[in-house]
Amino acid sequence: MDIKSRHPGRVTEKAMSYLKEVVDYGFGQSKGPGMRDRFEQAFAKRFGTEFGIGLCNGTATMHCCLGAVGVKPGDEVIVPPLTAAATAFAVLHQGAIPVFADIDPDTFNICPKSIRERITPLTKAIIPVHLYGLPADMEEIMKISREHNLIVIEDSAECFLGEINGKLAGTIGHFGSFSFQSSKHLTCGDGGIVICNDPTLATGVRKFGCFGYHTLTGKGGGVIPKKQRCDPGAVRHDFMGWNYRMSALQAAVALEQTERIDELVGLRIQIAEMFLEVVKDCNFLIPQKTPPGYKNSYWTFVCKYEAEVASVSWKDFRQKFYDNGGDLVYAAWRLSYNEPIFQERRFLGDFPVDSEIYKGKYKDYSPGLCPVAEKIQPKLMQFKNNYYNLEEARVQVEALRKAIESVKAAKSR
Ligand SMILES: Cc1ncc(COP(=O)(O)O)c(C=O)c1O
Repeated sequence: MDIKSRHPGRVTEKAMSYLKEVVDYGFGQSKGPGMRDRFEQAFAKRFGTEFGIGLCNGTATMHCCLGAVGVKPGDEVIVPPLTAAATAFAVLHQGAIPVFADIDPDTFNICPKSIRERITPLTKAIIPVHLYGLPADMEEIMKISREHNLIVIEDSAECFLGEINGKLAGTIGHFGSFSFQSSKHLTCGDGGIVICNDPTLATGVRKFGCFGYHTLTGKGGGVIPKKQRCDPGAVRHDFMGWNYRMSALQAAVALEQTERIDELVGLRIQIAEMFLEVVKDCNFLIPQKTPPGYKNSYWTFVCKYEAEVASVSWKDFRQKFYDNGGDLVYAAWRLSYNEPIFQERRFLGDFPVDSEIYKGKYKDYSPGLCPVAEKIQPKLMQFKNNYYNLEEARVQVEALRKAIESVKAAKSR
């Protein structure tokens, strides 16, 4: 089976040629095609940032940002609850406390007013998520950051080339964090990259993600030179670090994807626009609102489904879509704090609940914490839009049109 018949348009032969370069070099550390550097430089160049640090996934990226700025056990980090749990997990990985702020009912992104209400003397950072490809309200969030001296890590895992008034999402906060997991606009199976402009922060991220080697810098810097490593007194680590490196194989595919970023993102936007056309006169499927001046990169096409208006349950409407040839509708993730890990406090040992460090600081994750998110989450329908040709997408758009018409017809009877 050739590559095109498996995933038409997903990865091209160019990726295979980059992979071959890596394999042909046999993974030598000192010699090699410099694939990770090439990927990092290409990505940073496309986003107009000074630094790009390739890492193993889009959760490690956020953990490294938190580590690089010294977020420590007991500190608080504000995150949205409507997102992949990875966002809150990155905070837990650093021993810090995820504090959930509510969302906006129309954009589904974290609400700046709610962020303000959650700030305490322990707050160190905010991780806004650019949900479903739509940038969060970064202008307000950066205002809050300046007023309260808080670090902002943009979780742009689902947002490639999203914009706010001409500025690319991921380049507005202190860090932009991207995922190359298999569902994302760009993928290499699993992978991630952090972009930023500050050399100290960039060096911190790279060292946190690679054992804290003292030779590393934001631009790379390599491992300890062989000559030094041959010395029994050689010093290696001056910073605490994990091993979150991106492999050269991941970087080879990530480079090919980065070179095609406009095509890959453009196709999802084009498909989302076809879906938008179909729901524009429908009063029970309300699409995620893209505010003026914003560009949604449409990781997926999402609507709020108003079952009472349609007089058809969420599940029955989904079935209508399937009956008309629809492929897949995902529900939104359960809110992160409603997962058993938070509700049943299934953390690591006493962390972060009963430990001395957290005495009096542990947050209550009871239902009612984020009422808007709790109301919206069960209504959401995420329509798949990662088709690799418009013909396939047209079948899906048509299935949705027919499902909507069947509801309208039943109501007019
Ligand atoms: C918003 C968001 N943040 C973070 C992640 C985690 O990325 P990764 O799977 O690459 O660790 C994902 C999904 O995978 C995501 O959708």
